[in-house]
Amino acid sequence: MSGEAKRSAPNPAREPTGEGAPAHVAIIMDGNGRWAAQRGLPRFEGHRRGVEAIRRAVRTAGDLGIRYLTVYSFSAENWRRPAQEVSDLMGLLKRFVRHDLADLHASNIRVRIIGEREALAADIRLLLDEAEQLTRANTGLTLVIAFNYGGRQEIVQAMRSLARQVQAGTLDPAAIDVATVEGALDTHGIPDPDLVIRTSGEQRISNFLTWQTAYSEFIFIPTYWPDFDDATFRAAIEEYNRRERRFGGLSVRAG
Ligand code: IPE
Ligand code: IPE
Ligand code: MG
Repeated sequence: MSGEAKRSAPNPAREPTGEGAPAHVAIIMDGNGRWAAQRGLPRFEGHRRGVEAIRRAVRTAGDLGIRYLTVYSFSAENWRRPAQEVSDLMGLLKRFVRHDLADLHASNIRVRIIGEREALAADIRLLLDEAEQLTRANTGLTLVIAFNYGGRQEIVQAMRSLARQVQAGTLDPAAIDVATVEGALDTHGIPDPDLVIRTSGEQRISNFLTWQTAYSEFIFIPTYWPDFDDATFRAAIEEYNRRERRFGGLSVRAG
């Protein structure tokens, strides 16, 4: 299968991709706590080093010509953690946006946030809005930050929105199709992830992009997130490029 055929997935990116690079890579950044525990450090230190790994991943994604990079930063279920850790994670997001927004903008990166924003503190909501507004016309990499994100919660919100349109008489239930649902998700306009990478050795999806990963390739790597570097990222892309995606069709390799 040629690289071109590989990219003509049902939901392709609208802009050209770097040679051999998937259009959209989504990462479940896991293992910050274990990285810290291994070194006798507090979990916070793992999260802090995890932010540096995000900066590296953004740079590598840009170098590889990836169009969309989604990072799972805080799940809808992460509220179950101790209040101090939740507050640390909120603080790190704030610091990341405050400190990095100007650089991201200067690098022509467009920032999109997915997840339930209403439940967040007002100052965080403002920062997230500002990040999206400032960078909305940028044409380089789109960095999608999944924050207070849950795939099931996102689908529930989409269903509510469609139900309201049906109730208002502006949507015919018989006209609802895959594209209608996609248009009601937080990820509207973003192509489905071609590749999902999860670090730390866990092999599960943890409520990430439930709808969007229907035909994604998955790569699970043992590395803890703070150690994720350029070489690890490139090795994952190489593995992705050896895969054959069929989307329900027949193998073109077998002929
Ligand atoms: C990922 O690392 C960061 C978040 C989930 C916010 P973890 O904090 O889950 O680290 P482990 O899985 O406990 O090692
Ligand atoms: C998934 O990691 C969420 C993020 C990486 C933000 P978790 O560490 O929360 O997932 P589980 O609980 O091990 O499934
Ligand atoms: Mg974890």
